[in-house]
Amino acid sequence: MPDRPVVMATRRLPDRVEAIFGREFQFVPNRSDRPFDQAEMARALQAADGLVPCVADRLPAALFSAGPIRTKILANFGVGVNHIDVGGAHRRGVVVTNTPGVLTECTADLTLLLILMVMRGAGRAERRLRSGRWSGWAPMDQLGVSVSGKTLGIVGFGRIGRAVATRAAQGFGMRVLFWTPRPPDPATYQETGAAPRANLSELLAESDVVSLHCPGTSSTHHLINGSRLRTMRPGAFLINTARGSVVDEAALVSALRENHLAGAGLDVYEQEPNLTPGLLELDNVVLLPHVGSATIETREAMGMKAVENVRAFFRGDPVPDPV
Ligand code: DGY
Repeated sequence: MPDRPVVMATRRLPDRVEAIFGREFQFVPNRSDRPFDQAEMARALQAADGLVPCVADRLPAALFSAGPIRTKILANFGVGVNHIDVGGAHRRGVVVTNTPGVLTECTADLTLLLILMVMRGAGRAERRLRSGRWSGWAPMDQLGVSVSGKTLGIVGFGRIGRAVATRAAQGFGMRVLFWTPRPPDPATYQETGAAPRANLSELLAESDVVSLHCPGTSSTHHLINGSRLRTMRPGAFLINTARGSVVDEAALVSALRENHLAGAGLDVYEQEPNLTPGLLELDNVVLLPHVGSATIETREAMGMKAVENVRAFFRGDPVPDPV
């Protein structure tokens, strides 16, 4: 059907989502699921009216500064758009959309999973059992620290930060603090049970576990650097399910090696899929491979958001989730 816009996905999407794209557009799936290199990405921008990229892709300024571009909408499959030069896309008249809201609960659940795993030493304990080094229960064996009653400091207080606050306060009896550069209206967060702190240093100094929920932008790059890590309480824990760029991972490795921090739980990394040297060798970190939104329900919901944005765009309606 030559009159239908060409919509291309850079990776495999949930079957239900691909089926809808296939019914409504000239859909070009990526059957091999192999990531596009930069030449393939440039060709995709020349071939597709709508492109559906994701966080594992790279769409830097260079792609928007040279050559012809056919693509009119980048419907990102995901909420974070730090992998896209949004300014460059806009300058070429390309609309960018994302998928806010639908991965909030899933990512908040994963944050609690990391908090529990790292504070209770679950990764280390499971590795020990699997390697045949567990010789039975003992009063002083495999001790972690209790989560209940501890103070959780949340950096960034958008949808996911708030969902984490609610779970931690109401589900696990934690005291919850938060810091965000623009303090929100108290009426919008009272029900989470969280209390604001005026600056980041205060939050870091008061928290037993710090969880990051800010976007990966130039202003949050290495927000948690060596000196901020030293501001954290000795024996505290750091959780990152936001973006790798928010943490100076080399400084984190040092803080963990020196036992200033008791542990870290990471789902995102500075140079995904590569890990900063030293991280893998540390026993007091839990390392997950960017699975914050990885449930079938959430990935389908993300895909449906991309469908809605592409549909609205080609119908000539305002897109629901512009970036
Ligand atoms: C996002 O949507 O930005 C996530 O990181 C993907 O899970």
